Amino acid sequence: MAIRNIRKEDDEILKKKSKEVEVIDDRVKELIKDMIETMHKFDGVGLAAVQVGILKRIVVIDLYDEKPILKLINPVIIKTKGKQEVEEGCLSFPNKYVKVIRPEEVTVEALDENGKKIKVTGTGLLAQAISHEVDHLNGIILTDVMIPRNYGSNRTRRQ
Ligand code: NI
Repeated sequence: MAIRNIRKEDDEILKKKSKEVEVIDDRVKELIKDMIETMHKFDGVGLAAVQVGILKRIVVIDLYDEKPILKLINPVIIKTKGKQEVEEGCLSFPNKYVKVIRPEEVTVEALDENGKKIKVTGTGLLAQAISHEVDHLNGIILTDVMIPRNYGSNRTRRQ
């Protein structure tokens, strides 16, 4: 296992669309292990493969609760419900926290690391994390989805 370098800010790869995983081989399994180690090292709750420079549709999510770490290969969001306005950060934008609107509930279908089809429904933070990570796979980053601040009435803005 190894800690991988996290791509940051204006790295062009973050805007690229990731490709479907066709074969879950040892390299993919190794990548997943490294992604989990990297996510934990930087106290993240989720990480997409593109963030370590690999354009494959793989995400890992760990909310540090009693549930097992989610490993989603080729995830597809099949259902969303409701809305939540939340503050959100990203390991690729270490100093940025922005407001975004996410679904309150998300159902995702994916393969696990053994190639088994899984279906996960999450609410709250899990719904937020799934949405955020699937965005990464489509080249969508935090600054694309943040709610713009109302600069007209914001006296603390910096020049
Ligand atoms: Ni992120």
